[in-house]
Amino acid sequence: MTVHFIGAGPGAADLLTLRGRDLIAACPVCLYAGSLVPEGVLAHCPEGARIVNTAPLSLDEIMAEISAAHAQGQDVARLHSGDVSIWSAMGEQLRRLRALDIPYTVTPGVPSFAAAAAALGAELTLPELAQSLVLTRTPGRASRMPEGESLSAFAATGATLAIHLSIQNLAQVVADLVPHYGPDCAVAVVWRASWPDQRIIRGTLSTIEAQIAGSMERTALILVGHALAAEGFAESALYAPDYDRRFRPQSADSIYKDSRE
Ligand SMILES: C[S@@+](CC[C@H](N)C(=O)[O-])C[C@H]1O[C@@H](n2cnc3c(N)ncnc32)[C@H](O)[C@@H]1O
Repeated sequence: MTVHFIGAGPGAADLLTLRGRDLIAACPVCLYAGSLVPEGVLAHCPEGARIVNTAPLSLDEIMAEISAAHAQGQDVARLHSGDVSIWSAMGEQLRRLRALDIPYTVTPGVPSFAAAAAALGAELTLPELAQSLVLTRTPGRASRMPEGESLSAFAATGATLAIHLSIQNLAQVVADLVPHYGPDCAVAVVWRASWPDQRIIRGTLSTIEAQIAGSMERTALILVGHALAAEGFAESALYAPDYDRRFRPQSADSIYKDSRE
């Protein structure tokens, strides 16, 4: 018996890996984390599967479901939205499974920041402008931020920021970021990226609060950074016509001349 943790993707049912789909189809038990996991993903469960929404359950109750499946030798598909490596509460479940000696596997999923970037048609890292992406959040009722992980500290780097779980803190986000990025820095808020009712609002740090005006809650991602509105960025050296590289040696003297195979 194995518990398979599977990233269920950002919303669109077809943004699921083939491995994830096949595992879901093979498991007689499916535990899924609330309304962010789309019904279209659950449709891959085999007929007669036990399908449980774990949103109202405590960790102990989730573990009781897993232990019951374990006792019956039934594999479990454990679904979390997006990718399981960020804000999924997988870590604490894995720790319990290790303590109980219950085997598990982990299958990645499409994270919401990637779905939001796709919706925007944006590359979040542009040559010489932004070469880092920070996945972060602001403090919530149940989650303090570790010291040193303040928005201002990340903003000081100038990286592109993908701010999760924070649409309700938008005023504070703007206040923290303006000193570093300036009021004209581009912002995009993507609500329910890849769902049929997806919404996108583009603006700047000085306009975004008025544009959103409380019209979005919960499942929104705030993307901030100069890469989001840049047109005048450099082209990547890798594809420059005269760039000497392994797959495109530029001269008889190239160090890559004989390494093309
Ligand atoms: C509990 S976290 C889950 C993150 C998820 N594991 C991931 O890989 O993106 C929930 C937060 O992720 C973001 N999020 C999740 N799905 C989203 C979507 N489809 N569109 C926009 N933001 C989303 C929102 O910021 C939301 O508050």
